[in-house]
Formats: sequence, structure tokens, C-alpha cells
Amino acid sequence: MWMPVFPRDIDFALATAVAGVALLLVVMLNLAAAKSVQPKKIAWLLKARELIVELIREKHCHPLLVRLAWHDAGTYDQQHAHLPWPAAGGAIGSVRFSKELNAAPNGGLSKGVGLLEPIKLACPDVSWADLIQMASATAIELAGGPRIPMRYGRLDADSSPEQSVEPFGLPEANPSEDPAAHLRWVFGKYGMGDKEIVALSGAHTLGRAFKERSGAVPNGAGEEGATKYTGSACCPMGGDAKAAAKFMPGGKSWTPNWLRFDNSYFSLGGKADPDSLIAFPTDRVLETDPGFKPFFDKYAASEAAFFADYAAAHARLSEQGSKFSPPEGIRL
Ligand code: HEM
Repeated sequence: MWMPVFPRDIDFALATAVAGVALLLVVMLNLAAAKSVQPKKIAWLLKARELIVELIREKHCHPLLVRLAWHDAGTYDQQHAHLPWPAAGGAIGSVRFSKELNAAPNGGLSKGVGLLEPIKLACPDVSWADLIQMASATAIELAGGPRIPMRYGRLDADSSPEQSVEPFGLPEANPSEDPAAHLRWVFGKYGMGDKEIVALSGAHTLGRAFKERSGAVPNGAGEEGATKYTGSACCPMGGDAKAAAKFMPGGKSWTPNWLRFDNSYFSLGGKADPDSLIAFPTDRVLETDPGFKPFFDKYAASEAAFFADYAAAHARLSEQGSKFSPPEGIRL
């Protein structure tokens, strides 16, 4: 049926059309701006990765960088996720603030932040949150581990969220409660289950514990505190004295070759040599708890299975609580 068109309708139609065109223009301008920003951001990220590779090759600091990123991401608590960002914590770069960095659970990590500081200065467009996560993923790859499907573009928090209170929801090696319940409580805050707990614990294929840092072992830094695996004449560098001189001796490791990312945490474990290798209650329970054991056994039998689950869980850990710009993140 024919309907008359009144001038008021024409005004409305015109106004809608103009608003539509204006909106389209704004979207196109934003897209164009984002496109021109993106290559620059990618260039900075690539530069940062180059410098991280140099740093790791020089200092053999793979384990320290992995722990630093884990202690940044590990503050995430999904029960605060409804509050404005970054209240829920996570991979937001807040580990660099003294409230977190100087707290007991983060003993030794100021050294890691110090190592990354010159790279942050050289690549100011890369956020701390990205730099910390990138250093960890790069360290794992350089140690022979899997390629982690990382995204970048994380924004930095301006301070440590007031909701993050020491010990920041991070796990204890000797918890007062049942170790299985403790691990499920810690990783439950991230929405993670038994598979992720076991896979991520496999990061202890790298690194050592020190008396002066966590205090979880009697072994201190230096030759006096070294086990047969952590002295400067020892295994990680295959007896290469020049290379061994680059890392600090001492402490106690979970595996004999603690600078190589493989599945020896599962296939050997502390049980192989309890005097010289670590097996905390939170490590041992992975072999006995009925929920954890199937994954432990699977990873002991197959490095490929461990690498696949580790890479997926690590990528997820590295994005907890993060806010990305652009929102979909940047893949390199
Ligand atoms: C599952 C519960 C966990 C417990 C109870 C735990 C506990 C510890 C403790 C006590 C240390 C020794 C720190 C020191 O004295 O320097 C340590 C070191 C380390 N942790 Fe964990 N951790 C856990 C999970 C993780 C996760 C999920 C990752 C990474 C994804 C990780 C990566 C590391 C690394 C690489 C080191 C060695 C650091 C170094 O050599 O400097 N840990 N952990």
C-alpha cells in the first residue's frame, strides 16, 4: 500500500544515513591507524626477541626467566575477573613492582627484572608484560622445548592490584595442607585442571632451588652449595668449562641436565637420586594422586605428549588476566 513520505521522515532518514557514514569513516580511520601502528609494534617485538636471545645465550638464565613469567601470570584469580582490569592480576607486568618483587615468594626474581631492564630501555614500545612473557617462551625454546603459540600486545598495569596480597596465590613447595589439594586450589583460581597442573609442573625440568631464594632446600649459591649436578664443572654445559663459567653454581635441581627442556622431570624425577635432586611434596604427589598420575605416566613415556600439553598450558598461563591491544593480540 502506498504511504505518503512526510518531511520529518526524510530528516530522520537523512540523519541516520549521515550518522552511518560518519561511523563507517571513524571505523576506517581507526583501522588505517591500527594498520600503520602494527608493523612498528611488530618490529619492536622482533627486536626485543633478538635481544632476549642474546641475553640468554650469554647468561644461561633460562630458568630464572621462566620463573619470573610464571610468578607474574600466577597471581591471576578468576574470582576478581568481574572487577575492572587489572584487579584479577595475571600477566600484567606487576611482578616488577616492589610490593611483589621484594616479597618472599619472589625471592631472586629481582635479578630477572634487572636482566630485562636494558632490553625494555632499548625497546620502549614493548610492554613489561610482553617482555616478561616473551623472555620465558624464548627461554623454553632455546633450551630445546616446544614452540609456544604466543600472542603479544599486552598492556602494563600501573601498579600491583590491591587484590594481589602476598603470597599472591602462588604455590608453596611444602604446603601445610595436602599437596594435591593445595595444587588444585592454586591452579583452580586459573580455571585449570589436573592436566595443566602436571604439564606445567614439568617446567621444573629447568632450574634449581636455592637456600637464599625460596629457602626450600639447604643448598645455597656457590660451589659450596652445589650438588653433583650444579657445580660449575658439571652437566648442564656438558663439562664445557667456558660455558659453565657463565652461570652461577650451586643450588639443587630437579633434573641432572637442568638447562635442557625435556621430559626428564617425569622420566627420572627426584626419585632417581634423592640426595642430589629435588622432589618436593608438590612434585611427589603428581606420581601418586589418582587424578595426576595418568598424566605423569603419559609424559614420562612420551616427550611429544608432554611438549604438546605443555605448550598449550603455557600459552594459556601467559595470557591470564592480560589485556591486549589490539584486542586479538599480535602473533609473530
Ligand atoms: C606446581 C607448583 C609449583 C611449586 C610448588 C613451585 C615451587 C618452586 C620452588 C620452591 C622453586 C625454587 C625457587 C628458588 O629457590 O630459587 C621453583 C623454581 C622454579 N620454578 Fe616452580 N613451582 C611450581 C610451579 C611452577 C610452574 C607452573 C612453573 C613454570 C611454568 C615453574 C617454573 C620454575 C622454574 C623454571 C624454576 C627454577 C628457577 C631458577 O632456577 O632460577 N614452577 N619453583
